[in-house]
Amino acid sequence: MKPIRSLIRSLITGANRGLGLALTRALLARGDRVVAACRQPGKASELNALAGEYPGRLHLLPLDIADPKSHAQLARELPLVCDGIDLLINNAGVLHSGERFGSVSAAHLEDSFRINAMGPLLLTQALASQLADGARVANISSELGSIAGVTRFGTPSYNISKAAQNMVTTLLKEALSARGVIVLALHPGWVQTDMGGSGAAITPEQSAEGLLRVIADARQADSGRYLDWKGHPLAW
Ligand SMILES: NC(=O)c1ccc[n+]([C@@H]2O[C@H](COP(=O)([O-])OP(=O)(O)OC[C@H]3O[C@@H](n4cnc5c(N)ncnc54)[C@H](OP(=O)(O)O)[C@@H]3O)[C@@H](O)[C@H]2O)c1
Repeated sequence: MKPIRSLIRSLITGANRGLGLALTRALLARGDRVVAACRQPGKASELNALAGEYPGRLHLLPLDIADPKSHAQLARELPLVCDGIDLLINNAGVLHSGERFGSVSAAHLEDSFRINAMGPLLLTQALASQLADGARVANISSELGSIAGVTRFGTPSYNISKAAQNMVTTLLKEALSARGVIVLALHPGWVQTDMGGSGAAITPEQSAEGLLRVIADARQADSGRYLDWKGHPLAW
């Protein structure tokens, strides 16, 4: 990423495990100042250990992405640890597995929509005044959010919510383009996390490295694009 300042100020959601934790490690390793948001910072042992390794460069703040009151709380607390954001990674997500046509529940649909779609929109809105001009917003989507890519009735709550998140990316691009903010929808690959499972194709570290390269390489003309972790475009 072309640094807007010498130190990039990054905020990542769902930072306590999986891809979010790998992204946090990679951001710290490249020199960013990082705000790691997660539901229970006190129980986030890996993040707390990292805070010890990178004194003054990693701050943990509480966030339940499904709760708009929590977004407002984060927006209030952020200035206490960081004077603005150059990179916001909306990474927190949920996948309810085992859904079948005939028994899809309203509860799973609602929960997925709140976390995967509403969350990135409402959090970005709540933090908009603290986003630097020219900042980047990376929404961690999925290839399963591609309507063009559907081949089976697999994980409907997830598919629907990630497709909605893709619309969020397109709308945020419009809302923030005047300030030079670049907004991306990014598929991280099939990643070895609790969500992806141990048989997944790539490690969280590989995905994080690829995603950060794609984010860094993005130009204003790329805002609103739907790309995978290697920078290849996906069909909506
Ligand atoms: N793994 C894959 O193969 C894959 C593929 C495509 C897309 N993705 C996307 O990549 C992102 C990261 O996934 P992952 O594989 O790292 O999943 P994961 O291992 O299941 O981790 C999910 C993360 O999201 C957080 N989260 C869930 N609900 C939350 C809430 N209400 N408020 C705050 N945080 C919440 C979790 O926090 P808790 O620990 O508190 O639950 C955890 O940090 C997701 O958006 C996912 O959809 C993953």
